[in-house]
Amino acid sequence: MEHKTTLGKSSLHVPRMGIGAMTWGDPRGLARLHPAKIAYGGAHGFEEEQRALETGMVAGVNLFDTAAMYSGGAAERRLGELARGRDIIIATKYPSGFSFRVEDFPKELEASLARLGRDSIDLYQHHYPSNRISIPQLMDQLADAVEAGKVKTVGVSNYSVEQMREAHMALARRGIPLASNQVQYSLLYRKPEVDGVLDACRELGITLIAYSPLAMGALTGKYSAKVKASGLRRILPNFNKKAMDAVQPVVELLRQIGDRYGKNPSQVALRWLIENENVLPIPGAKNGKQASENIDALSFSLTPEEVEMLERVTLAWRV
Ligand SMILES: NC(=O)c1ccc[n+]([C@@H]2O[C@H](COP(=O)([O-])OP(=O)(O)OC[C@H]3O[C@@H](n4cnc5c(N)ncnc54)[C@H](OP(=O)(O)O)[C@@H]3O)[C@@H](O)[C@H]2O)c1
Repeated sequence: MEHKTTLGKSSLHVPRMGIGAMTWGDPRGLARLHPAKIAYGGAHGFEEEQRALETGMVAGVNLFDTAAMYSGGAAERRLGELARGRDIIIATKYPSGFSFRVEDFPKELEASLARLGRDSIDLYQHHYPSNRISIPQLMDQLADAVEAGKVKTVGVSNYSVEQMREAHMALARRGIPLASNQVQYSLLYRKPEVDGVLDACRELGITLIAYSPLAMGALTGKYSAKVKASGLRRILPNFNKKAMDAVQPVVELLRQIGDRYGKNPSQVALRWLIENENVLPIPGAKNGKQASENIDALSFSLTPEEVEMLERVTLAWRV
């Protein structure tokens, strides 16, 4: 399988995996109090993030995902700082707050460009839909930004099938493809298979960007009912005792399959996603080691039988 692809029907050439940079950037000052300060616990910092970025660059995995709201803008600033002067594909998302209106779009775009220190954004994604926002009007704003050269490729995130079709149609009227829909997808989160998003992406030629592909760390095999989660994980449902106990047979199978190839549970869990040509996972990496391990999921393949075994052991999560 090719390690590069194009994002949907756009002309953006991307690796088959990206690196999630949601936890990057030291939240300082007010950002510390921001509700969207996301930390799964465990300190990292500039040097570790730099190593993660370098590791990706050396391996050709040069797609990094961030958002205006992560750590109140600190994550975008950090990625911009690390990316300066490099051939990096930056995917970011707007808005930076929940009171966003379509009229705020140009302001949001300028603010992200300033934080990233760039003249244009490679992939600009609407972070989450809202009843208050007209999708066609918003997509018109996006199309204007593409025509002005400030946005290269358009994506959405957390969109349902209907919302995705609406965005796709509105952009098509302006001759612009909707390249991607970024939704949560992992062996432990199978909603895109059930709600039709996975199929609709394939039908429309839209790449499904899979966020939280390691189920926020639950599929790495390092957490269990005995290993106490810290930070945000203390309140995440994936990490309560019952959920941790339930996931152990899944981790065990990931380990067994991984042993055949010299890979660990994370790598097998990511590979399961990569086996679907239209799915592009963006595992979060806090350091060079995590980035390097995750990228190594590009270097092997699962057999159809192994894919089926993984699907059977996770049937309870396909609801
Ligand atoms: N569009 C949206 O609404 C949305 C929502 C959430 C996330 N995202 C995007 O998706 C990206 C990834 O999602 P995520 O961070 O929620 O979850 P994830 O990728 O499933 O899990 C990432 C976490 O797992 C641990 N980890 C990663 N690689 C590992 C390895 N090789 N070995 C051991 N542990 C490893 C790290 O945490 P520890 O070191 O603390 O264990 C890391 O922070 C984010 O960075 C963000 O860009 C988007």
